Amino acid sequence: MTGPATLAAALDRFARVPLIDQPTPIQRLHGLEKALGEAGGGVRLFVKRDDLPFLGGGGSKLRKLEYLMGAARAEGCDSFVTTGGIQSNHARLSAAVAAKLGFACELVLARLVPREDEEYRLGGNRLLDDLFGARVHELPGDADTLAFARERGAALGREGRKAYVVGAGGSSPVGCLGYAYCAQEIAAQEATAGLDFARVIVPNGSFGTHAGLAAGFAAMGQDPARLLSFAVLETAEAARPKTHALAAETLARLDPVRSISADAIAIDGSQRGTGYGIPTDAMLEAVRLMARSEGLLLDPVYSGKAFAGLLALVRGGAFAPGAAVLFVMTGGSPGLFAYRSALES
Ligand SMILES: Cc1ncc(COP(=O)(O)O)c(C=O)c1O
Repeated sequence: MTGPATLAAALDRFARVPLIDQPTPIQRLHGLEKALGEAGGGVRLFVKRDDLPFLGGGGSKLRKLEYLMGAARAEGCDSFVTTGGIQSNHARLSAAVAAKLGFACELVLARLVPREDEEYRLGGNRLLDDLFGARVHELPGDADTLAFARERGAALGREGRKAYVVGAGGSSPVGCLGYAYCAQEIAAQEATAGLDFARVIVPNGSFGTHAGLAAGFAAMGQDPARLLSFAVLETAEAARPKTHALAAETLARLDPVRSISADAIAIDGSQRGTGYGIPTDAMLEAVRLMARSEGLLLDPVYSGKAFAGLLALVRGGAFAPGAAVLFVMTGGSPGLFAYRSALES
């Protein structure tokens, strides 16, 4: 037996706190297709609206938090400690979900992006971390945030609390189950709508979105090689083995028999630019084009760069006329407010 129902049954074995009520919709980008005109090559562009579930300002990290918080509750934890960059969407959503569930939350944030201006240090996601009541520890860019987070977890333990600790992006095999769940949604939506996506495109930061989707497709007996991620944090060469290892670990939890080959992990490094969180012209064009043709918000660090990669592929004729391509909108719009100067220029 194979397919979405089998994966759903495998996922049911894991504790989950529902934060997203129903499958996020898949929508066609008619306005963007029109704006692209002939350069669009007749490719049908779709987005999966993982930016829609709006708890905490919304975004894809809610999927991982459903399983992370499920595990935290099952282990009897009352505190949640996680890590990220100063403008981390995962950190912001962890703070919001912790507030909703009555957990204490500590965020260990590293200065990964070389910016000291107030817009970046205090605006966007960082403002919301405070609003949701998280305790924030800011560390230098080269600090071992996970080690610090584990120390904080141990210190909370000495105070009589019990902390669940997870690293950047919530990208542990438990967190990745959230994106295996998303793969099952995509497969079911394709079947219902009579679609067959030639490519499913996502950003790749802490590897978990790609890894979870790959594990989910593999668990359903589908080819994970139709996924393509654009690296925005590490180089594509560095991200490939890490994404593969995480996908394999996640798949092992869902199905001990199936495996996933390293060749099935496709990662493109062409949109990373000079580094994590540093704007590129292509990202700025993608954010503006999506805003002006669809009224949709990409973010400047992850989805903006990945969508720029999708546009480059479409304009370069990488897809046959009529092919359907799916982009997973991962949210992160609060990050736009930390990039006002770049967007204005
Ligand atoms: C808005 C947004 N999109 C995509 C990603 C990338 O996901 P992952 O870290 O699982 O690769 C992130 C991660 O932080 C994110 O915040």
